[in-house]
Parts: sequence; structure tokens; C-alpha cells
Amino acid sequence: MVSVLRKRAVIEALGELFEGEELKRALTGVDTIGDLTVIKIPRGWEGRGHEIGELLLSRLKNARGVFRQTAAASRGDKVRGVEWLAGEKETVTTYAEHGCVFKVDIAKVYFSPRLSYERLRVARLAKRGEVVVNMFAGVGTFSIVMAKRAGSQRIYSIDKNPEAFKYMAENVVINGMAGTVIPILGDAKEAVVGLRGVADRVLMPLPELALECLPYGLSCLKPRGWIHVYLHQQGGSRGAAVEECVTETRGRIEKVAEVHSISGRIVRSVGRRLYQVVVDAEVQRAGDYP
Ligand SMILES: C[S@@+](CC[C@H](N)C(=O)[O-])C[C@H]1O[C@@H](n2cnc3c(N)ncnc32)[C@H](O)[C@@H]1O
Repeated sequence: MVSVLRKRAVIEALGELFEGEELKRALTGVDTIGDLTVIKIPRGWEGRGHEIGELLLSRLKNARGVFRQTAAASRGDKVRGVEWLAGEKETVTTYAEHGCVFKVDIAKVYFSPRLSYERLRVARLAKRGEVVVNMFAGVGTFSIVMAKRAGSQRIYSIDKNPEAFKYMAENVVINGMAGTVIPILGDAKEAVVGLRGVADRVLMPLPELALECLPYGLSCLKPRGWIHVYLHQQGGSRGAAVEECVTETRGRIEKVAEVHSISGRIVRSVGRRLYQVVVDAEVQRAGDYP
């Protein structure tokens, strides 16, 4: 309900400045993370960022600070660039979803509220008592939602960004998941060496590295297990994008194991005809992975 009201307030506020296609574009560029609002300022409006920030701040209940997104989350650590526009300059906030609470610093770690449904979806697929490896865990969002909702036995959660690791460790405690969600600081390729064959399920929520790291993800699985591979796919229809990703992932898995079942879905649109796709595969192997 709160988010619906907030959405309406954002539409009303931005509707005072923009109209038509420009309004649509402005609205798709707004993220609310706890009491902070991040907006991509539409082209041509760069010089009026503070005005837009003040407007949003005055119209949104509980808004503490407004920031402009200056760079997409495309670097290795996936941190988006932000610049202060209005309100408080503090970039640490607390965000709640699916009965969990996450402390994040939007200037130092990757965080997207747009993955909220996907986090719930994979948590619903997980079974009680599973051991899971999350290779790109960020501040622990996928891991903590899954551990809490599914009752996982253990979720090894790797991230190479020391700031993400620090917040993940704190979030694990805040959510009462110490001993279940195990934060690991390091490069996923190196960290999984100690996790060979332990997992019922592996999460790979980093499209830029998912295919390159797929053999490492597979090496964590028990003889039979699930792997969730997140990819980017450019062009074509939504259906074609999913099919392309499923075919590519199947081909790569079949080099080392049998695919028992496989399907894909669009997670979200991340640009002009650029999709984030997740492929869910149940994999069976005879011997050890190479
Ligand atoms: C897209 S984010 C993860 C999203 C997260 N699951 C969430 O829902 O908030 C990708 C994460 O992978 C981390 N990362 C990037 N390269 C890595 C690597 N080689 N090994 C481990 N973590 C890595 C980044 O620091 C970032 O936190």
C-alpha cells in the first residue's frame, strides 16, 4: 500500500514538469530505496536536477534524500553512480521487503528494488533444508529472503566488494539468519573451490559474469541440483530473448552434465530491447565436474 501511494505521489510530482513520452521516461527512471529516492534525469533536463529533487522531496512522504543516478550499475562491483540533489546527503538507508530488512549504502554497494519479485520467486522454488551457494550475493538480499522464507539449512553468500560484504554481514544478524547465511568475502571463482559438491541450488545473479562462471557454479552442485543463471539478451522479442538464453545455457551445461529440466523468463527490461533473463535448470551429473 505504501509503495502504491508513493508511486502515485511520484507520478503526480513529475507530472507537474513532464508530459507524454518524457513523463513516461522520467517515471521509469525513479527508484525508491528505503527513504531515499534515486532518479535518472531525462536528457535535456540536466541543469534542473536540484529543482526536480526539491519537488520530489516536498511531495513524497518520508523522503529523506533525493539523488541523481549519474552512471549505470555496470562496473565490476555493480555500484551505480549517485549525486546528491535534495534533502539529506546521507546515502545509507534501510529497505524492507518480504518480511526482511536490508541496510544498504546506495553509493557503495549494488542494490535494486526492481529485483524484489525475482527474489521472492526463487525463494518460493527453494525447499526446506537446502544448502545453497549464492555466487554474487551483494548485501545478502536473495540469500536472506530465501533463508527466511524457505527455511534453508545454509546459504554460502559470496561477494567481492568489501562494502557489500560488510552490509551483508550486518543484514544477516538484523534478520536473525546468523549461522544460516554465511557471508564470504572474495572472488566467486576462488571462493567456490571450497564449496565443490555441497549445494542443492546455486544462484548466479550477475549477468555480466554468469556464462563465464557457469562451470564454477555447476561445480558447487550435488549430483542433482538447480542452478539459476541471470543473463542479458539484446534485441528480438521477449519470447526470442528467453529462448536464446535457454538454448545457450543448455548447450553450455550439456558439455559437463545432463539437463533434467530447463526454462527461462524475463526478469525485467534493462534498456531498449535489452532484457534481463533468468534460466532455471535442474542438472544431473554422473561423475565429478571438471
Ligand atoms: C547484481 S549484484 C547482486 C545482486 C544481489 N543479488 C541483489 O539482489 O541485491 C552483483 C554483485 O556481484 C558482485 N561481484 C562482481 N564480480 C564478482 C566476483 N567476481 N566475485 C564475487 N562477487 C562479484 C558485486 O560486488 C555485486 O555486489
